[in-house]
Amino acid sequence: MAGENLAVIGAQWGDEGKGKIVDLLCDDFDVVARFQGGHNAGHTVKFANKHYALRLIPSGIIHPGKLCLLGNGMVIDPVALLEEIDSLRKLGVQIDDNLKISDAAHVILPYHRALDLAREEAAGAAKIGTTGRGIGPAYETKVSRYGIRVADLLDPAVLREKIEFACAEKNPVLQTVYGKDTFDPATIFDDYLRHGETMAHRITNGTLWINEKIRSGKRVMFEGAQGTMLDVDHGTYPFVTSSSCIVGGVSTGLGVAPKHIGRVLGVAKAYTTRVGGGAFPTELTDQTGEHLRKRGNEFGTVTGRPRRTGWLDLAVLRTATMLNGLDAIALTKLDVLDDFAEIPICTSYNVRGERWKTFPAFAVAHDNYKPEYRVMKGWKTPTAGITAFDKLPAAAKDYIRFIEDETGSPITIVSTGPRREETIVR
Ligand code: IMP
Repeated sequence: MAGENLAVIGAQWGDEGKGKIVDLLCDDFDVVARFQGGHNAGHTVKFANKHYALRLIPSGIIHPGKLCLLGNGMVIDPVALLEEIDSLRKLGVQIDDNLKISDAAHVILPYHRALDLAREEAAGAAKIGTTGRGIGPAYETKVSRYGIRVADLLDPAVLREKIEFACAEKNPVLQTVYGKDTFDPATIFDDYLRHGETMAHRITNGTLWINEKIRSGKRVMFEGAQGTMLDVDHGTYPFVTSSSCIVGGVSTGLGVAPKHIGRVLGVAKAYTTRVGGGAFPTELTDQTGEHLRKRGNEFGTVTGRPRRTGWLDLAVLRTATMLNGLDAIALTKLDVLDDFAEIPICTSYNVRGERWKTFPAFAVAHDNYKPEYRVMKGWKTPTAGITAFDKLPAAAKDYIRFIEDETGSPITIVSTGPRREETIVR
């Protein structure tokens, strides 16, 4: 994929291992930019004896000399960002002029978080299972046109007015509808003005900044967060996040024209996981699911929640290939399947007698669709740490080729362990 910009997009429900893949490909790029989401994301990068947990900051930050941008399509909690900068610095990561923040990104404020938590609590069994970080309410305020943008943190008069306006509306909702504590606008103003001052030297016109980089021939990697099936328009609504996780989000979330996006790499786990509620046709709620969770260490990096686990779903991958125009797939965590004698793959759904090869939009409302499986032979041999395709057992090669045939996307990267070095590049 030389000579072009590249978007790295989650092809399932998030947690596909995008952080590792972005980190792996970083050497070929000058800039790494996030275009949506916030600190609901949790990207883990393991290298040598170090373990980096990234939430808001692109994985490129670990590489000296790479420039990183938090794009206008993101929602940014300044407290979380400043904490993340501190903890990365403690691990020896240099963060100075290499991290920029778009002045048009939106700010997550304490009342967003409180509303997120209060709504989830009130929804009971119908809750979305959000990360509780205030993501949905922050995007909601953005779209309602009363949000606070990063640039507003630098203008005391505007900031004060907007915080007072927001508190006048959110406080009664928190108190009367949900029976929760309210927020003092003066305290929020003092805190967020201070956060603005701390971040001021990083705040820039992100759209101009990235387009100038592209015009001057710098190569950009667009780092997606969450995954295709969590996209607010195309995912399993309403059990989705509140941003555009698919490649289309790159254009609106950074102000980069589609013709500059270049190639698109989808990242998919060799099986499927999801956190939170919502449709999951291939879910395993039995011992096999528990075994997958243990072997794959499937616990959320942000919230520590156990992830739901299940077999690979080709209807999901075909949908991701279509929505993102995937040029290739990076298949992660192949080694987690090493000890299964048989590995079923969902090839389609039976929807009231009809065969569906992509994800049905109505799947959330109706559960009368049944996954149809093809059972693949397991390889029962360790693949952990293998770095050459030829060294893989025949059954693992068959598994990979079957996915390629069914999705029409070549699998150019296979990850066989959490470390950067545990990777096959074809
Ligand atoms: P929110 O983004 O916190 O509003 O959560 C909405 C849904 O997206 C929930 O099901 C979350 O578990 C899921 N979600 C959000 N961020 C991630 C992520 O980074 N990985 C996996 N799931 C996520």
